[in-house]
Amino acid sequence: MKRDFDIIVYGATGYTGRLIAEYLATSYRGEDAPSWTIAGRSIDKLEKVSAEIGAPDDLPLVKADAAEPASLRSMCERASVIITTVGPYQLHGSELVAACAATGTAYVDLCGEPVFMRRMIDAHQEEAKQTGARIVFSCGFDSIPFDLGVLTLQEKAREKFGRPARRVKARLRKMKGGMSGGTAASARATVSAAARDPALIRLLTDPFALTPGFSGPAQPAGLIPEYDPRMNAMLVPFPMAPVNTKNVHRTNFLLGHAYGKDFVYDEMMVAPGPDEIAGVATETIATVFSLLSGGGLKSGGGPTREQRERGFYDILFQGELPDGGRVEAEVTGDRDPGYGSTSKMIAEAALCLVRDVEGEGGIWTPAALMGAALRKRLTERAGLTFSAH
Ligand SMILES: NC(=O)c1ccc[n+]([C@@H]2O[C@H](COP(=O)([O-])OP(=O)(O)OC[C@H]3O[C@@H](n4cnc5c(N)ncnc54)[C@H](OP(=O)(O)O)[C@@H]3O)[C@@H](O)[C@H]2O)c1
Repeated sequence: MKRDFDIIVYGATGYTGRLIAEYLATSYRGEDAPSWTIAGRSIDKLEKVSAEIGAPDDLPLVKADAAEPASLRSMCERASVIITTVGPYQLHGSELVAACAATGTAYVDLCGEPVFMRRMIDAHQEEAKQTGARIVFSCGFDSIPFDLGVLTLQEKAREKFGRPARRVKARLRKMKGGMSGGTAASARATVSAAARDPALIRLLTDPFALTPGFSGPAQPAGLIPEYDPRMNAMLVPFPMAPVNTKNVHRTNFLLGHAYGKDFVYDEMMVAPGPDEIAGVATETIATVFSLLSGGGLKSGGGPTREQRERGFYDILFQGELPDGGRVEAEVTGDRDPGYGSTSKMIAEAALCLVRDVEGEGGIWTPAALMGAALRKRLTERAGLTFSAH
């Protein structure tokens, strides 16, 4: 059934939602433009955002409150895809996933909260399959570059050797960016939920938390600093690894174990040091500290335009086959990872669902559902590069 809009950006009055709406308003005009609008709980605030981002004057604003399920359902019935940045998702997100699953509406978010994701998989996978709702978590820096980076490496491994790499290491070589109030709130919500219910810690530390019924071999925790002779660099833990690794294992699971049932994966980042690679890593560490501390940021706050535009990231993926064969992939992005690049990635993921891929309903990962089509969009429109050899 034809819906009023291709895309509704829900949470457009927040820091990241506004960037996504601004990207749609400025990057898609004329013939090429999808039909889209913005939604939130306050029409006054939405009017202000709409005027400030240069959206079309006649943009019909949609009121929906996360605490009012009927308003969410009526929003979902009007859109082919909902982009949501109304987080923390574990506090405000469940009813929207339920409404999308019930109404067969596609959904993309920026969730990096594994406990919420697992709860939603358990509660809505079957219904989403029946209604055709394609629900895709983690369509930002967590976890698109990592999820598509591993997919790209494994495609190259199959091309070169006829089979996937059993062991893949993702190494964040460079990153520069900042933190928003909503991301700080999500990190705080995860920590306080785990403090209230220690059973959640098992799920948070389980690499296979998002593959119900399947557990692969032991995975490196990536918690102990190590020297990488090939990179000539010290590696230290990467705080986003626990989310990305779970998503990468779910992609493998959803693709019928295309990477193998014995697939082993971890993520670390280059530590600061005197040489070229490690020198840039000082920025990486500063970014990570800012991501973790949040610095008292409030909802709506985040990096300045200049900070976003000066940001970047660069990830190396090293693949090894049991017989010694090697394959590598690289992914780069041209803005700060969490917001400048993330806002482009999630908007393109939504467009990919509207225009490029079909696929069954269910709770998906970006690489498992959109794979090469999303990679093409991100390369052509969103400032990412992917290479493999
Ligand atoms: N994984 C990644 O790569 C990544 C990157 C960026 C962001 N994120 C995530 O994205 C989310 C948003 O971050 P942010 O910094 O943009 O947050 P933010 O600035 O605090 O924005 C939150 C938005 O949620 C809305 N909201 C809150 N309660 C609501 C309710 N009851 N009904 C309707 N709307 C409600 C707010 O509306 P009002 O204006 O009315 O308060 C606002 O639009 C967070 O969960 C964050 O972790 C993830």
